[in-house]
Amino acid sequence: MVYLDNSATTKPYQQVVETFQEAVNQYYANPSSLHHLGKEAEALLHKARTAIGDWVGAEASEIIFTSGGTEGNNLAIKGIAMQYAQRGKHLITTKVEHPSVKEPFVFLEQLGFDVTYLPVDEEGRVSLQAVKEAVRKDTILVSIMSVNNELGTLQPIEEIGNYLKSRTTTHFHVDHVQGVGKRKIPTKIDGVDLCTISAHKFHGLKGTGLLYVRKGLDLAPLLHGGAHEQGWRSGTENVAGAVAMAKALRLTLTQAKEDPLYLEHLKQRLLTELQLIDGVVVNTPATNSAPHIVNISIPGLKPEVLVQSLTDNGIHVSTKSACSTKLFEPSPVLMAAGLGEELASSAIRISLSFLNRPEEIETFIDTLKQSLRELRQVMGETTT
Ligand SMILES: Cc1ncc(COP(=O)(O)O)c(C=O)c1O
Repeated sequence: MVYLDNSATTKPYQQVVETFQEAVNQYYANPSSLHHLGKEAEALLHKARTAIGDWVGAEASEIIFTSGGTEGNNLAIKGIAMQYAQRGKHLITTKVEHPSVKEPFVFLEQLGFDVTYLPVDEEGRVSLQAVKEAVRKDTILVSIMSVNNELGTLQPIEEIGNYLKSRTTTHFHVDHVQGVGKRKIPTKIDGVDLCTISAHKFHGLKGTGLLYVRKGLDLAPLLHGGAHEQGWRSGTENVAGAVAMAKALRLTLTQAKEDPLYLEHLKQRLLTELQLIDGVVVNTPATNSAPHIVNISIPGLKPEVLVQSLTDNGIHVSTKSACSTKLFEPSPVLMAAGLGEELASSAIRISLSFLNRPEEIETFIDTLKQSLRELRQVMGETTT
């Protein structure tokens, strides 16, 4: 079995699962309870928050635990929009964001906010110039992803942050869900005010994540209740989940530091082989793209048929984003990049992690060639 769908989710590290098990068995008390067990759970939660803060480059008080990327993005976008609506109602994002960013903006439009969706170039990249031209006096939020989940394109977060840092009433949110272990976490970039992270994308557990909120900012909460997480995210804390996320973050960032080119080497090997296969078009930008995502199209072939054939032979990849339920529509991201309906309707995403081995790339390539031969033969037979 070869798992190459790591942008959809990663396999949790064994140590992460063990850490979770230990914490959930021992520290099951409610961190808000006044008894000893509650205090112990609270102390462990604080330890996890501080450790995560250190890795993320933030103070413990700037880390808000969430259930993952979708919640973090919703909290950042709706939270800022609702909190600062009296200052202005203009919001900016791009045409290539994940649905968990795009849909909150669509929702806010229904509430009377004015949203600018910035165009991207043929590599799926937004320009600083486009941001500069779109920003207005009443712009209260700019939300741009760090790494595109379909193409792997890196967005110019640093340049945009630098430009926005002097605009104190325009807040900058970065969806860094695809970036952990692949690109520097942008919390230290001047101008970045909010940053979303999700643990299951770096060998942590589903249902855990965080939103970094720069000190001094305020948010309107999505969930009202017992005022946990500084009142921004009510609900009894997932102590074991937070501890497991701290572990996954430490393991992933350590691995990325010790072997910074590991994923890039796998990707280059993959690209070299793919470019030799007849009919394969590589959509991922050759430069300035993440080391773990390769997006290809095979015009004329239904991607779901190819994914099925590959999975029948033990290889697991995705058609575009696993988060889109509209599986048979052309990818809006590839369409926004101007790649055209043919490429946007036949895209496959191969995504890597530190758990993949070089031999798996060879197995994938051999299986892909075999699947293509078989499918083309069947197609030839049905058209003659
Ligand atoms: C760029 C990006 N943002 C947000 C999300 C949503 O994260 P989660 O699955 O943790 O809700 C994803 C998931 O694929 C993603 O790729």
